[in-house]
Amino acid sequence: MLTGKKILVGVTGSIAAYKSAFLVRELIRLGADVRVVMTPASREFITPLTLSTLSKNPVAVDFVKPETNGQAGEWESHVELGLWADLFIIAPVSANTLSKMVTGQCDNLLMATYLSAKCPVWIAPAMDLDMYKHPSTQENLTKLTAQTIRVIDPTSGELASGLDGKGRMQEPEEIADQIDAWFNPASKLRGKKILITGGPTYEAIDPVRFIGNHSSGKTGVILADACANRGAEVLLITGPTQQRVKNPRVKVIAVTSADEMMKTVEQNWFDCTVGIYSAAVADYKPEFAAGEKIKKTDDRLTLNLVKNPDILKWAGLNKKKDQYLVGFALETENELENGTKKLVAKKLDLLVLNSLKDAGAGFGHDTNKVTFIKPNNKTATFELNEKTVLMNRLLDEIEHDL
Ligand SMILES: Cc1cc2nc3c(=O)[nH]c(=O)nc-3n(C[C@H](O)[C@H](O)[C@H](O)COP(=O)(O)O)c2cc1C
Repeated sequence: MLTGKKILVGVTGSIAAYKSAFLVRELIRLGADVRVVMTPASREFITPLTLSTLSKNPVAVDFVKPETNGQAGEWESHVELGLWADLFIIAPVSANTLSKMVTGQCDNLLMATYLSAKCPVWIAPAMDLDMYKHPSTQENLTKLTAQTIRVIDPTSGELASGLDGKGRMQEPEEIADQIDAWFNPASKLRGKKILITGGPTYEAIDPVRFIGNHSSGKTGVILADACANRGAEVLLITGPTQQRVKNPRVKVIAVTSADEMMKTVEQNWFDCTVGIYSAAVADYKPEFAAGEKIKKTDDRLTLNLVKNPDILKWAGLNKKKDQYLVGFALETENELENGTKKLVAKKLDLLVLNSLKDAGAGFGHDTNKVTFIKPNNKTATFELNEKTVLMNRLLDEIEHDL
């Protein structure tokens, strides 16, 4: 996360300027305070209004602020902007601005801010392949790198000109990721593939009815966002839920029944380093789902139920040596004893035991009370707390064990 970090985004006149809107949005989502400084040329590509709305701050473009209420002569303090920032990222940076950075030419507010900045400066070039390849551009990049400016290399692909080659500005999410990694270098989950299951499963009785449970899917979504915020590559396989992930880097596969969840887990578990199985999977399903809506004719209706696959057990039995497996359990009696049995039987590295006994804990709440059980009877019980706090505590524990 970038909470409390002050990031200044510089925007220059490149066709990739629209991507700066996504970068600003992503930095805000990660909790950063964001301000934007633009070159006059960049206004042809994206409006200050868009960037001020997304950054929640006025955008700086001109040395002298336009007249307000008849008062002239207010000026934009490039020095203040340069001192304010913990990091200055110019994305996209044009070939023109690159060249000015090398010579120290100070003919716009972005350049004056650059020359005043005391913080680290990063640049993400964006230009046509021949402009990028040109010896002048390459020489400028070499000189700026020698001045400890960090260059985020452009990627290859189709360019706005229609040509194909190196020059596309790196994707905003990737840039935000790199910024996050730079401020928070410690996370062991960064770059790791993590599979998370969440939500309930619905087991069809007929086309309109099902057997389900009260799981809201909150925990799975909180876990997915928290893992992605730590830089992990996340796949969330979730049963029906109203909850939405906030982090755009989480890949979500929506499933309905335990059988569907099982199939999706089977297709993905082997690629992942960590699995966090928090879904409240129905233990039983109707033996046959009626093809048509069952009519209300008889006084009694008997449903034959059969066992669903045990997804967590399957993951444990098929776990490779370098995979870390977390399961969730909800017990209502002999909690610790039953939880420990589950940990062993399902070959888990950690079991999160949920409580239903305390007010504010369990399904649908934003709070919960949990105990972590690990092999060799190691346990840790936590007070009632926000699910977000508890799930981040779980991720700290996983990081510690990896
Ligand atoms: C449609 C269009 C797209 C452009 N795209 C780029 C680009 O991607 N990269 C670049 O370096 N210059 C590009 N330019 C040229 C710059 O806009 C131009 O050099 C401008 O002076 C840059 O000013 P600035 O660096 O002060 O923002 C483009 C120009 C036009 C008209």
